[in-house]
Amino acid sequence: MPVPVELVRPLRQQALRPGSPPEDSVFPGDDEALATHVAVRDGASVVAVGSLLPEAPPGWLTTWPGVRPPSGTGRWWRIRGMATADRWRNRGLGRAVLDLLLERAADAGGGALWCNARPAAVTLYRRAGFAEAGEIFEVPGIGPHRVMWRVVPEP
Ligand SMILES: CC(C)(COP(=O)(O)OP(=O)(O)OC[C@H]1O[C@@H](n2cnc3c(N)ncnc32)[C@H](O)[C@@H]1OP(=O)(O)O)[C@@H](O)C(=O)NCCC(=O)NCCS
Repeated sequence: MPVPVELVRPLRQQALRPGSPPEDSVFPGDDEALATHVAVRDGASVVAVGSLLPEAPPGWLTTWPGVRPPSGTGRWWRIRGMATADRWRNRGLGRAVLDLLLERAADAGGGALWCNARPAAVTLYRRAGFAEAGEIFEVPGIGPHRVMWRVVPEP
């Protein structure tokens, strides 16, 4: 279920930007009308989060071999801020969050999705139908990433 962005930021911060100032967990596009943030809760605790943001991919992706044009509205969405609290990992919550975001993109008219995947998340995205594109690249201070993408399934 979509939640206000303020609810997802603490876990984003903890899992993705440990030791960084809180403003580093504020992403461009977080407050856009089409942005969706989801959270899995255990009582009052937020244990898994992820976000869907309307955001164009790097220009090269659209012409990368095998990359198909977005379905439906033709919009590109970015999956960002995927994080599960340490002791809740490997129980399927990341996949559940991803599935909710995919459903949301389909309900919002379709398109295609992309993300910058860390090595630890590549198999999660692959199993959810994403494919790698481009070369591995380094995000300064964070580490290696790979762009992954998929078309939003038609309803
Ligand atoms: C990446 C991350 C979000 C995955 O979250 P998660 O809730 O552990 O994800 P899932 O449980 O759905 O999937 C993780 C693994 O658990 C396995 N799994 C899922 N359900 C399972 C179950 N019931 N029993 C055992 N293993 C299970 C999955 O097969 C998957 O394996 P894989 O890594 O080989 O794909 C989490 O590890 C995390 O927060 N990492 C730090 C932040 C980060 O790197 N975020 C991604 C940025 S791109």
